[in-house]
Amino acid sequence: MVKLQMALGIAITSFGGPEVLQSINYDPLPPLEDEVQIQHTAIEVNYIDIYHRRGIYPLNTDPKIPGVSAVGRVVKVGANVTEFAVGDRVCYATSDKKASAYCGITNVKQSILLKLESDFDDVLIAANLLKGITAHMLACHVYVVRPGIAVLIHAAAGGVGRILAQWCNFLGAYVIGTVGSDDKKSIALQNGCHLVINYSTEDVVAKVREITENIGVNVVYDGVGSATFDTSISCLMNVGMMVSYGSSSGIVSNINVEKIASKSLFFTRPSVYNYAAHRRELMIAFNAFLAKVNSNIIQLSKPTVFKLAEAAKAHSLLESRKNLSSLVLVP
Ligand SMILES: NC(=O)c1ccc[n+]([C@@H]2O[C@H](COP(=O)([O-])OP(=O)(O)OC[C@H]3O[C@@H](n4cnc5c(N)ncnc54)[C@H](OP(=O)(O)O)[C@@H]3O)[C@@H](O)[C@H]2O)c1
Repeated sequence: MVKLQMALGIAITSFGGPEVLQSINYDPLPPLEDEVQIQHTAIEVNYIDIYHRRGIYPLNTDPKIPGVSAVGRVVKVGANVTEFAVGDRVCYATSDKKASAYCGITNVKQSILLKLESDFDDVLIAANLLKGITAHMLACHVYVVRPGIAVLIHAAAGGVGRILAQWCNFLGAYVIGTVGSDDKKSIALQNGCHLVINYSTEDVVAKVREITENIGVNVVYDGVGSATFDTSISCLMNVGMMVSYGSSSGIVSNINVEKIASKSLFFTRPSVYNYAAHRRELMIAFNAFLAKVNSNIIQLSKPTVFKLAEAAKAHSLLESRKNLSSLVLVP
């Protein structure tokens, strides 16, 4: 009898809290012609995984295995795969609904896979994969940060926030960060912010007006969403750019165009899946990020590691707003 190669995965059993994440055993399918089979070594935990779990952006796979980015080794290649071989160290960050990163073994299209040649270990890379690519998109594409401008970054002590603040600082911006508690202030200050405001207790608009001499900031990077949207608009200068790139507090709805018109603002809702949809763009973004890390311009903090089977614990921590580091699952 042929022995099946079973692997551990984490499935969303119904939409809801962390408890809906359950361990399953599955038999990995062979890779399709253009796919590479990867044995994961480290899996990134991102806020988007929580949106998938809650059903805000539902997955259409069966089983519904969340996770969009990971590091691993190639264990099998499809018939038409030319650029990867068994044993290659690889990573991906994708919107591909088949990616399903919360598992031991998965198949990924070769078109979104990157070879990994960095000296950094798998856990450190995995902890910052999608986050680094996102920070590149925000600081170098969506709004090209330049010396002398002022930027406002919400949740500046968070995963994307820490990288983005250091990047904007390097590019010469005056970086104002917001955080939800006083213990996060020092983290944001150590990670590129010149000024940090606790948006739970302080008046963000008044502080921003004071520091910018009533002018406002050139750009707001807002990954928090509904709770901060109005504040963000109020903090912008005339012809400023509102970058709404996430919704950890809830989705922004009913945008008041008159408020945008009153200062001739620009508004965008960017997604890394459009800015880095193909390997070439992904590679440019990832290499730009790694170069900043290699040259110590961006410093990465030590990730917190959970076993894959403890994915629910990792989600609880990320949602609690008490998390102070990037989170990784290890199969
Ligand atoms: N557009 C894209 O392509 C793209 C790609 C990657 C990530 N993102 C977005 O980037 C954002 C950051 O992602 P991340 O993985 O690095 O997460 P994160 O920033 O480490 O965690 C989210 C942070 O949001 C803040 N927050 C404010 N209100 C909250 C609430 N009601 N519930 C939970 N958190 C709340 C918390 O910081 P405080 O306690 O300091 O408020 C929390 O730490 C997310 O919105 C994510 O969806 C977008």
